[in-house]
Amino acid sequence: MPNTLGPDYLKNSVWKPHLFDGKVVFVTGGAGTICRVQTEALVLLGANAVILGRNPAKTEKAAKEIATLRPGAKVLGIGNCDVRNIENLTAAVDRTVKELGHIDFVIAGAAGNFLSPFTSLSSNAFRTVTEIDLIGAFNTAKATYDQLREHKGHIIFVSATLHYKGLPFQSHAAAAKAGIDSLTKTLAVELGPMGIQSNGIAPGPIEGTEGFDRLVPEDIRQRSLELIPLGRLGKTVEIADATVYLFSPAASYVTGQILVVDGAEWQSTSGAMNYYPHSVIATGSQDNKL
Ligand code: COA
Repeated sequence: MPNTLGPDYLKNSVWKPHLFDGKVVFVTGGAGTICRVQTEALVLLGANAVILGRNPAKTEKAAKEIATLRPGAKVLGIGNCDVRNIENLTAAVDRTVKELGHIDFVIAGAAGNFLSPFTSLSSNAFRTVTEIDLIGAFNTAKATYDQLREHKGHIIFVSATLHYKGLPFQSHAAAAKAGIDSLTKTLAVELGPMGIQSNGIAPGPIEGTEGFDRLVPEDIRQRSLELIPLGRLGKTVEIADATVYLFSPAASYVTGQILVVDGAEWQSTSGAMNYYPHSVIATGSQDNKL
């Protein structure tokens, strides 16, 4: 199965086995590509997990598969959970506490997106994406807040880099992600005194994800790759590693931050000089020619 982790993750990674023994993570959108791999890494490192999604069959199947990664792992899959509906989330929190004991970590990852020019985007379409992404993130924080406070927990919001500049055909998702980043920072300040950390992860172009396959059209794909300074797409495991870092004690003093994991893609559209091919940029830097 592509884009999932296996026990090799533990062999090849720098993380200490059992890092998250006894921890429980609550993940919205956990059956989707990126959030699933984030969950897999945490489970391999000892955590139990609950993943939530709208599609019950997909969510329950993913939970069963993730649970096979580590003997004794408990992974609940809760379907029919729409993050736009706070009651769905509070019911999921209650079930998690009943079956897994508590919640230490939260990943607010559920998102909806499509490409649409502003001129053909309906008000309902804008509202729908904003409701899934932004209100959904708020609802996730709200529903898990008591658990986060009780366990001095940590919430990670999955964001994006869409809103750092003007990006065509993404007015809806970019506005929602800007709101999520704002929420991330406010919660760090408001909930920090209770021992709660709030951070974001902004993935760039990650291979094998719906976000890249569906939202980057074929005719501009090659050109878009040429703008990534590290010269390649990111991997889901690189988002998982960023997640492990933030939840680990190594990031115990990090809060209110958005960790961008994008090979410097968004930086590379900051001005005309970025349109030199990478070979010219590298040569110019080495020889001090430019
Ligand atoms: N372009 C323009 N408008 C679109 C659209 C598109 N591709 N897809 C949906 N919409 C509009 C609909 O027409 C509707 O507006 P209208 O009532 O004015 O016609 C509005 O968005 C709501 O659509 P609906 O299908 O009822 O919403 P939903 O809640 O069932 O689905 C979406 C949510 C729209 C985000 C859907 O794309 C989805 O569920 N995606 C799966 C998850 C996903 O996108 N993940 C992203 C990973 S990057």
